[in-house]
Amino acid sequence: MEGHRMKSAAAALLLGIGLAGGLALPAAAQSSVRIGGPAAEQPVDRDGPMVPTQIPGQSRGDSWHAIRLGEQGTVSIPNKQAGVLIQSEGEAWRAVRNGPLSQYGSWVLGGILALLALFFLVRGRIRIDGEKTGRTIQRFNAFERGVHWMTAGSFVVLAISGLNVLYGRHTLLPLIGPEPFAALTHYGKLAHNFLGFAFILGVALIFVMWVHHNIPSRHDLTWFLKAGGLFAKGVHPPAHKFNGGQKVIFWSTVVGGAALGFTGVQLIFPFSFATLEEMQLYQLAHAAIAVIMIAIILAHIYIGSVGMEGAFDAMGDGQVELQWAREHHSLWVEEVTGEKVRHGNHHGTPAE
Ligand code: HEM
Repeated sequence: MEGHRMKSAAAALLLGIGLAGGLALPAAAQSSVRIGGPAAEQPVDRDGPMVPTQIPGQSRGDSWHAIRLGEQGTVSIPNKQAGVLIQSEGEAWRAVRNGPLSQYGSWVLGGILALLALFFLVRGRIRIDGEKTGRTIQRFNAFERGVHWMTAGSFVVLAISGLNVLYGRHTLLPLIGPEPFAALTHYGKLAHNFLGFAFILGVALIFVMWVHHNIPSRHDLTWFLKAGGLFAKGVHPPAHKFNGGQKVIFWSTVVGGAALGFTGVQLIFPFSFATLEEMQLYQLAHAAIAVIMIAIILAHIYIGSVGMEGAFDAMGDGQVELQWAREHHSLWVEEVTGEKVRHGNHHGTPAE
């Protein structure tokens, strides 16, 4: 009886786990193997549906033990990985993704939004302190602005569609219902897959265009010591084309963008470059880096739009008010216009 059951299990069941000896099912038996078929198609015997527990020559306990440890069995379908019935790393991955990753992620994103709102309430919009000149100077050319907006546009769609994958089920789904949510998630995923490449290209071009303006210098130290003048009206530490804070944005974009691109490519071409375990780690890294980068970029978007008078023009038509440039980038103004600016004075006015 027991021998009969063992034989029919091996012949009809989903897989045979090849333990140390590497036992495989006979070819005839393998041809009838089905993975994940409907219950009605599962082989049955007098005692009910058969379960894939046993390996010829192994006790039932040993067989289960091997399956629980994630040992790879043999299957006749092309996807050999289906021979692993229980992949324990997958359980750990799921626990981290749905637990600490999602939780800390929501704290980081909620935290930065609260900080920005608080900063706006306390400091208000950072105004141009001195008198406007009515004259402008060019800050970024059309190509630079085009690259910036390609990177920014793709990032925003990637961020929204990515956050939907992480949080949508618990936030959007109850709000908009299953059908709109399914459609949104479907198109969001398509957009995410394609725009990833535009973002990677944008980050590479940003690196090439601006790296020479972003080498750390002693002025950055002064800039950070004075907190960039962000908290005190009329304080303007000297800066070249990019100040210390902008260098942080630049390097976050380049390093974070490269890490997102690398891990993203691993996930978009499953199993081409990485094993399942590696992909699980890449997915966690991808999501964690994305959350941090979204938080940093939210601060960047705030200061580049509502947070500071005159800043948006740099990426709008590329022309900035000369007085804005004197206050925020005094050393750069000296370089490009030849005029002398009194650094560190409270209005960035030109020297006599
Ligand atoms: C979507 C809204 C965004 C707005 C309104 C915005 C605005 C701006 C502005 C006005 C500047 C020029 C600052 C200056 O002249 O000193 C700038 C620069 C820059 N932006 Fe954006 N940006 C946005 C999104 C992004 C995104 C998503 C990224 C990258 C993922 C990004 C990366 C950069 C970098 C690296 C710079 C140069 C360094 C810096 O000025 O901080 N921007 N942005």
